[in-house]
Amino acid sequence: MTTLDLRDTPVSMTDPTALDLLEQAIRQFQSYVGDPVATIEPALEARPDFALGHAMRAAALISFGEQRFFDQARPSVAALEALVERGVANDRERALGAALRKLVDGDWNAASVLFDRALVANPRDVIALQTAHLFDFVRGDALNLRNRISRVLPAWSASTPGYSYVLGFYAFGLEECNQYDAALATANKALELEPADAWAVHAGLHCMEMQGQIDQGMQWLESKKPQWSVNGFAFHNHWHLALLHLDRGEIARVLEIFDRDILAEDTDIAFVLVDASALLWRLHLLGIDVASRMARLANLWEAKLDGERGFYAFNDVHAMLAFAAVGREASMARILHDLESAAVGSTTNAMMSRDVGLPLARGVAAFGTGRYAQCLDELEPVRDIAYRFGGSHAQRDLITLTIIEAARRCGKLQLARHYLNERVMHRPGSELGTRLLARM
Ligand SMILES: [Fe+2]
Repeated sequence: MTTLDLRDTPVSMTDPTALDLLEQAIRQFQSYVGDPVATIEPALEARPDFALGHAMRAAALISFGEQRFFDQARPSVAALEALVERGVANDRERALGAALRKLVDGDWNAASVLFDRALVANPRDVIALQTAHLFDFVRGDALNLRNRISRVLPAWSASTPGYSYVLGFYAFGLEECNQYDAALATANKALELEPADAWAVHAGLHCMEMQGQIDQGMQWLESKKPQWSVNGFAFHNHWHLALLHLDRGEIARVLEIFDRDILAEDTDIAFVLVDASALLWRLHLLGIDVASRMARLANLWEAKLDGERGFYAFNDVHAMLAFAAVGREASMARILHDLESAAVGSTTNAMMSRDVGLPLARGVAAFGTGRYAQCLDELEPVRDIAYRFGGSHAQRDLITLTIIEAARRCGKLQLARHYLNERVMHRPGSELGTRLLARM
């Protein structure tokens, strides 16, 4: 027996209560409002044979990109596989299960291909699409951030529930492929359909960040604040807002946003700690005293090390930023050791740790201990391949900023100017680049 979900995609479950809870969970997953895991779990308790429900639970947990949530997702993937084995699940659910299995087993590149296979048959499989898109981001796969959406978009329309969110994905993919005008037009189209689409707000903001359009970025956020500031993604859009203020040199405002909107309370969510590290490190590079905030952040990272070390190189490097800034030598050594251990093997994170994470972490550690020339030796070769360990262009900009400051501190002003030229050329409206150039 099979039925169709709201996007006309087949579901093996027919219980209307279970399907209602699934649709609620999907809306929460898309909108970053509410907890899709808490929503779907009662449906799974009532109907353990709810294959797509297990997929939803696993996808929502995995999307956090942390070891502990992968561990929590594994029973759901196993339950889905058991239903496939028993012939209870349909082909869509079988395809989704195969891709999720690759994800929880650490082969994120293979999962990317399997999600695409799932989308060939069911281009409106929103669980496959969103999970794949988020992992395109985790894998730094800019082309697929855009092209995966291009491949399914013709199957969507304004009458398909959740269409705006797919446009939001597409806008972000276009932005990461440097197609800023198309990205902004797509983000606006998404926001016309759903003004609270946090991902679309974010995509437009990235366009402005990458072009140094500071005033436009401020206006963009200000005009949409009632929508973007009240969901689970707000901390990251606040991070972007802080970057805009940082560009203007409005440091008090940056710290206010950090204290109130990014790390108001202690947290153990890696996404938040990553943004906190990335913002404080930028201030640290500018010589601004953020020692007490960094010490607090280093404590939060240290509390996570046992469970998460060596799981995702992008997070490990961001933990290293906090440790290096406050001279936590034991934790710095531990991160390096964990990355070295993680670099051995065939998982996607092994490649990320080997190619990017380890040299970056060594470079950051060198910066932290005043070995600026060594920092340059580690960071320069990896700067242009750093996309391999994930994140956005805006996030990885931190590597170039570190190179510039390390070069300045060891007297290589020509080298610092060399990289600053790139920044100023691409972001003519950015005051930060011009200020740094003047400092040289
Ligand atoms: Fe972002």
